[in-house]
Formats: sequence, C-alpha cells, structure tokens
Amino acid sequence: MEIIIKPTAAELAVVAAEAICEVYADNPAAVLGVATGSSPLPIYQELSLRVQAGSLSLRHAKAFQLDEYVGLPQDHPEAYHNFIRREFASITDIDPNQVYGEDGLAADLLEECRRYEQAIVDAGGIDIQILGIGVDGHIAFNEPGTSLNSLTHPAVLTAQTRRDNARFFSGDIDKVPTHALTQGVGTILRARKIVLLATGANKADAVRDMVEGPVSISCTGSALQLHNNVKVLLDEAAAAKLERQDFYREIYANRPQGAWLGL
Ligand code: F6R
Repeated sequence: MEIIIKPTAAELAVVAAEAICEVYADNPAAVLGVATGSSPLPIYQELSLRVQAGSLSLRHAKAFQLDEYVGLPQDHPEAYHNFIRREFASITDIDPNQVYGEDGLAADLLEECRRYEQAIVDAGGIDIQILGIGVDGHIAFNEPGTSLNSLTHPAVLTAQTRRDNARFFSGDIDKVPTHALTQGVGTILRARKIVLLATGANKADAVRDMVEGPVSISCTGSALQLHNNVKVLLDEAAAAKLERQDFYREIYANRPQGAWLGL
C-alpha cells in the first residue's frame, strides 16, 4: 500500500485524479470503478474540472458501481445509480449508458449478482477502482465477517452502517435499506489499481486496522494489504492512529516520481 497523507480532501482528490488520468492517457477506453458516499465526491469534482479543461476525457470509458441498495424505488434520489448519475456521470463526459450497476430491484438477487460479476469480467475487468472505507472497516458493503474472497453478493447492512448512512435519508435510520447488492472483496481485489480516500477522525480506527492490522474479516478493508497497487489517501485526522506515519511520509517524500510502490 502506498500511504499518502495530505492536509485536505481537495489535495487528496488531486492525487486520485492524477492516477486516474494516467490510466486514461494509456487507454481512453479504460474501465473505472466508482463508489458512492461522501468520500469520492472531491474526486468526481476534480475529474469534472479536468474534463472541462480538456486534459481528460471519459467519452470512451465504462464505469461500474461498487454497490446498490436493495428495494429502493428506481427514481429514489439515494438509489446508487441515481447518486452516480448526479454526482459523477452528469459532471463528466462519460456516456451515461456506459455506467453500470447492480439492479437492486431484480426478482432474483443471486442471479443478478452473478450477472453483474460476469459483466465486469466481460468488460475486461476494472482498471482503476475508487474506494471509500466505512467506520467499521467495510469496503463496498462488505461488512465485518464477509469472506475476503467474496464475489458480488447480497449483503445485510449492519446497524452501524445504516446509522452512518441515515444522513442521506433525512436522518431516519428506518428509511435506510437493510440490504444491498455489493461487489465482493474478491471482486475489488481483481481491480488492477485502487485509490482509496478516507478523511476525518471517525475513520482513524478503520484506517489503522486496514493498513496495519492483521488481514481479517473483522476489517474487510485489510484485504487490500494483499493487493500490489493501492494508494491510500488520508487527511491528518484519518491517519492519526497509524503507528508508522513517519515511515509512510518518508517513503512518499523519497519515492521515485510517479511510482506505484507495489510494482
Ligand atoms: C460506497 C461504499 C461504501 C462507502 C463507505 C464510506 O459505494 O460502498 O463502502 O465507501 O461506507 O462512506 P463515506 O464515504 O460516505 O464515509
């Protein structure tokens, strides 16, 4: 893991956008993995600026969502396909028909998960995946206890996650769906590159467990330690509980320009 600590989310978003631009400079038809929640929003803003400035085009790109709530009406603003359309697709030049997600209203949810996993494979796999991390260490909706080898599957959301996401549902936990369809940890580990952004003191424990804890189903983000191409982008508050902070800062300051440390 390459640990990058910077003062603001805006600065971290620049690092993420640069990594994404590098991928699209090599392959304009690359496949982007998109996350919902608050963490990736500054990245989408930064990508939008680059599209406007002409230094990035997603015209030939495909994008795949990490997850989708089960059972929200098609037009619900917090259904993740609507979130991604609003916060990402509408502010870049990606073709909205090339943005894919799980169908949380499918009659057969297991079959839908199989279909989605295969759709990612058929698209050639994800070239670069954007991630956030939950307070309980989840990536996508892989809650503690989920197999680190899991593929796309239906997931039960923990009370913690539903409380955290209630802010998107006028603060009412009862309005937050209880289930979601989510890429598995194994699906995420197949992405060729990963950029994970975490900010704020409420993420500090999860970040410590992800980066320095044992690889364990207790913190599914810890599986990223097994991937050789991950940038973990942190503000000072999210990095505060890392034991080896000085080491990460030193490596970053002295790294060969543009290198991914795992390669
Ligand atoms: C989003 C997702 C989640 C979030 C995580 C953090 O698609 O799958 O894992 O990344 O819950 O959410 P925020 O960024 O809102 O703190």
